[in-house]
Amino acid sequence: MHHTPLANRRSVLKLLTASAAPLILPSRLFGADAPSNKITVGCIGVGWQGAGNLDSFLALDDCRVVAICDVDEAHLKAAVDKVNARYGNQDCKGYKDFRELIAREDIDAVAISTPDHWHSIPAIAAANAGKDIFCEKPLSHKLSEGIAMVDAVAKNKRIWQTGSWQRSVGSFRWAAQLVQNGYLGKVTRVEVGLPSGHSDFGGTGKDKPDGPVPSGVDYDLWTGPAKMMPFNPCRFHKNWRWNYNTGGGQLMDWIGHHCDIAHWGLANPEFGCGPDDAVGPLEVSAKAEFPDPNSVWNTATKFRVDCKYPNNIEVIISGGHPDIQGGAKWIGPNGWVSVDRGKFTASNVEWIREVQALEKKGELKIQLYKSPGHFREFIDSIKSRKRTLTPVEIAHRSQTPGHLGHIASVTGRTLKWDAAKQEIIGDAEASKMMQPEMREPWKL
Ligand SMILES: NC(=O)c1ccc[n+]([C@@H]2O[C@H](COP(=O)([O-])OP(=O)(O)OC[C@H]3O[C@@H](n4cnc5c(N)ncnc54)[C@H](O)[C@@H]3O)[C@@H](O)[C@H]2O)c1
Repeated sequence: MHHTPLANRRSVLKLLTASAAPLILPSRLFGADAPSNKITVGCIGVGWQGAGNLDSFLALDDCRVVAICDVDEAHLKAAVDKVNARYGNQDCKGYKDFRELIAREDIDAVAISTPDHWHSIPAIAAANAGKDIFCEKPLSHKLSEGIAMVDAVAKNKRIWQTGSWQRSVGSFRWAAQLVQNGYLGKVTRVEVGLPSGHSDFGGTGKDKPDGPVPSGVDYDLWTGPAKMMPFNPCRFHKNWRWNYNTGGGQLMDWIGHHCDIAHWGLANPEFGCGPDDAVGPLEVSAKAEFPDPNSVWNTATKFRVDCKYPNNIEVIISGGHPDIQGGAKWIGPNGWVSVDRGKFTASNVEWIREVQALEKKGELKIQLYKSPGHFREFIDSIKSRKRTLTPVEIAHRSQTPGHLGHIASVTGRTLKWDAAKQEIIGDAEASKMMQPEMREPWKL
């Protein structure tokens, strides 16, 4: 039993709802500054992005980071020290095993910023334990994990925010609003431009020999459900994304950003693509260039995924083809709109000023949700129980064409996708590639 602020709040609330007589409670229990009024957060995975996510939670006064989990002691200690310095106490607890953090009853929400192969298991465990969840993109390592995550969140009625923060940025919202409000007419083609090759984020290069596990790292737990491979520094922190055992290369690293934005623009039901959480392809074919599968970095260096969406909309997802620019570009009979980080243009530039002015006046026919900030919105949604901008079902649909594109590029076949049943039609080998092969004892 934890005698924690939240446990106290929960018992007070129980008391309140159980008793018929009005209770007079001291205001310090519920005032804005009362510890019991803060959303308690536990952060799982505090490497590169996780450390940034932690900073974003620490900047919000109405949440309290009370626990950190990482399998690398150095990352864990740095994060715990940072939290304790921020709050001026020693209350933040460190864990190596996320199951212990999730078991704490006083934690309201968890943030999952582990490598891609380590999203689904903690996310589903957290949903089943009644936590609200912030989880990084891409949602899952294998397509069927995403389906299971959506189910677990729905079954447990959890609030979910994905790290697809571009939806919280004005330029991306204005671009999607131009498209949804019909400035282009009915969209016929969308181009999604992603990076190609490999980016040496970890600064290790790609050719180091296998070596000893660094001290303070639990490599068995880091590997988790992935295949156990010898430790190699080029497949570890940050650079795990360039090996299919743990990541999905540039295609999957970016699909949750730019394809997510592309779908946002298409989510006007008049385009026949379905509502925001059901936009998706009917047919997917793809070509990619792969290094030797046994190389340390073995993810595709160049790829092109051609998708047919309902209503004859063509969606091209490309990396390394100069005819497709970075970001998302929608094309219709009246012109085009293109958006990327730091870039927002259109065939008719006056549209941009117009959509901003109409939004200001509250006169847009379709006004997309204006985020107060990606983490602010998550905490607000935890309180209001309203769906966030990037709930799990939207994130799952945003990355589905990436998963299907990868499978199509490996099998060399055109895949037919039943978006309602979420099944590849008539291709057993491709369907099997949707499933993760998890190393014992881990399972979904
Ligand atoms: N939203 C964005 O803009 C953005 C940017 C970068 C990365 N990401 C995503 O964030 C996630 C993490 O990527 P990164 O670049 O920060 O990787 P990273 O390797 O820098 O950090 C991952 C951290 O998770 C820890 N970890 C691994 N297994 C764990 C486990 N079982 N329990 C607890 N901790 C564990 C590692 O020790 C490490 O500290 C990925 O899914 C990535 O796609 C998102």
